[in-house]
Amino acid sequence: MAAKIISLGHTKPTRKISNQYFVEMGLDTSDEWIKERTGIHSRYFTNNEKASSDLGYEAAINCLDNANLKSSAIDLIIVATSTPDHNGFPSTACLIQEKLKCPNIPAFDISAACSGFVYALSTAEGFLATKKYSNILVIGVDCLSKITNMEDRGTCILFGDGAGAALLSQSDTIDEGILLSTINANGSLANILAVPKGGSKHPFNETIAKEKSHFIEMDGQSVFKQAIKLVVNEIKQSLLSVNLTPPDIDYLICHQANQRILDKICQNLSIPLEKSITNIHKFGNTSAASIPLAMSEFHNQTGFKKGDIIVLAGFGAGFTWGITIIKW
Ligand code: UT7
Repeated sequence: MAAKIISLGHTKPTRKISNQYFVEMGLDTSDEWIKERTGIHSRYFTNNEKASSDLGYEAAINCLDNANLKSSAIDLIIVATSTPDHNGFPSTACLIQEKLKCPNIPAFDISAACSGFVYALSTAEGFLATKKYSNILVIGVDCLSKITNMEDRGTCILFGDGAGAALLSQSDTIDEGILLSTINANGSLANILAVPKGGSKHPFNETIAKEKSHFIEMDGQSVFKQAIKLVVNEIKQSLLSVNLTPPDIDYLICHQANQRILDKICQNLSIPLEKSITNIHKFGNTSAASIPLAMSEFHNQTGFKKGDIIVLAGFGAGFTWGITIIKW
């Protein structure tokens, strides 16, 4: 028996932010630069009233509606996020559990930045294998707009907010569902993408607020290069271990970080660009939400077909990365 995604759902905030917004805010950038260097045309920001648990809840409801199931069917909630409602605790998963009104089941968060969704899928796969759980709700949600320095043109134009959800259960056969999931990390690259201060090493204070060092800092070029190298290698290795090759891929869904990264991964794997599902032009980089958001949107609009080979590829801060190979 394998773990299988039986439903998908997603949501986005209502506030659409154009590239021109940053120019109007006084940033030294342009619509042309952002489109050309990232592929991003717009993104969505939450307003002050909403947080990750709100978006995660909305995506979960959409996912349950699509499955025609009530929240009482869920027996475990895993939330991948780097922007929990609260620093420390309670977990965002517990807050979503309360909103869904499904008490007395375990709920926890996973912190693996933009690889969070594939980390959570891999975790759910393990829990399903114990046969103690039947329907696991996996949510990828982030509100990176809340931890971004809006004066840093190297980061603020990239990120957006959103959420995606997937419901996983056991399939009756090993010939469908998750064929393989891999997760990996290299902590020696921790410094290329980080929120440097505001945690237990440098507790938040006035100096940190003035420095704005509680916001995302990134060495964009290093992240760019590592992402392509690690993801391409991991996909090749992972496909080999399930006797598949890149031409067998029907759809590749990478973390939506930069259109140029997505194109380069396809080129290096000799996969036609049409097989790469992208929505970065609309949503920007939504971190842990980007893969389930792209998957759910595509499934709503076009629909995966039985037997499709879908490869998910997450990568992000840590440095972390992971691949999920699915036979739909
Ligand atoms: O989910 C986490 C994963 N994150 C990523 O995958 C991000 C990966 N990195 C990237 O997507 C790209 O590196 C960026 C989009 C962040 C930057 O693009 P780039 O082509 O690598 O630009 P660069 O860093 O090499 O900078 C080239 C120039 C610099 O100016 P100078 O020093 O040549 O005068 C930058 O200051 O572009 C400048 N620049 C900008 N100019 C206009 C950087 N950001 C902007 C901007 N508007 N928003």
